[in-house]
Amino acid sequence: MLKTDDQAVRTAASALAEGKLVAIPTETVYGLAADATNGDAVAGIFEAKGRPHFNPLICHVSDIDMAERYAVIDPLSRRLMHAFWPGPLTLVLPLKPDTAIHPLVAAGLDTIALRMPRGVAGKIIAALGHPLAAPSANTSGKISGTSAEAVNEDLGARISLILDAGPSEVGLESTIVKVDGTRIALLRPGGLAAEDIETVIGTKLERIDQRAAIEAPGMMASHYAPSARVRLNVHEVREGEALLAFGPSRAQKAENASATLNLSETGNLREAAANLFDFMKRLDRLKRPVIAVEPIPFEGLGEAINDRLVRAAAPRDAAIAEMDEIK
Ligand code: TXA
Ligand code: MG
Repeated sequence: MLKTDDQAVRTAASALAEGKLVAIPTETVYGLAADATNGDAVAGIFEAKGRPHFNPLICHVSDIDMAERYAVIDPLSRRLMHAFWPGPLTLVLPLKPDTAIHPLVAAGLDTIALRMPRGVAGKIIAALGHPLAAPSANTSGKISGTSAEAVNEDLGARISLILDAGPSEVGLESTIVKVDGTRIALLRPGGLAAEDIETVIGTKLERIDQRAAIEAPGMMASHYAPSARVRLNVHEVREGEALLAFGPSRAQKAENASATLNLSETGNLREAAANLFDFMKRLDRLKRPVIAVEPIPFEGLGEAINDRLVRAAAPRDAAIAEMDEIK
């Protein structure tokens, strides 16, 4: 644990640049941060949290200029940024194409949730020169860490550095909104009161069903549905299928595949997680009727990878994925 002086900011920024996870204080809650441009590091967040699925993460920026590099900012969102940044407000915005942000951060969506935190986090982001992906610093299912001690108790063994700036000022995650034309939806109530936002924009926020709002961005099958059919747990490849492989050994008749991308030649689940959304999209662009996916073990990050694959494989009109018999 390090107190947050200038030296700590430099130490944190260089650990992050090396792809390590660092717990950083923000005014809302402590965040478990990774360089948002490093897929392996971002996969490490899910691993450290023990999350059984990938949900889109909030990306933290040091200023509006940095936000501008990655997202398309409409006038109303810009007004909210000027009014409330730095502070506990997250804006969901269209992601610019081909940015350096790793696709795992937005869980493959074409939008990105951005926020500019108060305090030392901003200095670390500026020193790193990249945004930080950071969910709350707690293992999945536990409550968010609001002090360095709480974070240390919960995650200390799994991360390399915790910065200590005392108890979080707000103690509640940021409020998340999404502008849609002239309407603004409240996706997650949080540390900035909805009324304060309403005062600035002069209209009411649209309250979205909370569960749907939190789950939908990461959970709805339609966000992940490739145009190709997806066949899981494939032991034998059929003629013309695009093959999403995993590990050093191939399914039978792998030579039938019209194209193959391997999530991880060495069978490393963290590497596979980092490649998943990108490789699914690349295979789908080939417009083969079927993407065949080799078996992925269910341990560690494999559970989240399989969760996403099952959603991608779910036929649009049925709940059951198509797969070879589990052997
Ligand atoms: O206060 C906070 O916001 C804390 C601190 C550390 O900054 N961070 C935080 O991040 O709570 P995170 O990554 O746990 O927030 C994830 C939530 C998702 O569950 C979803 O509700 C929303 O942010 N979200 C992220 N990306 C989204 C997107 N593209 N569209 C809609 N919602 C999104
Ligand atoms: Mg959380």
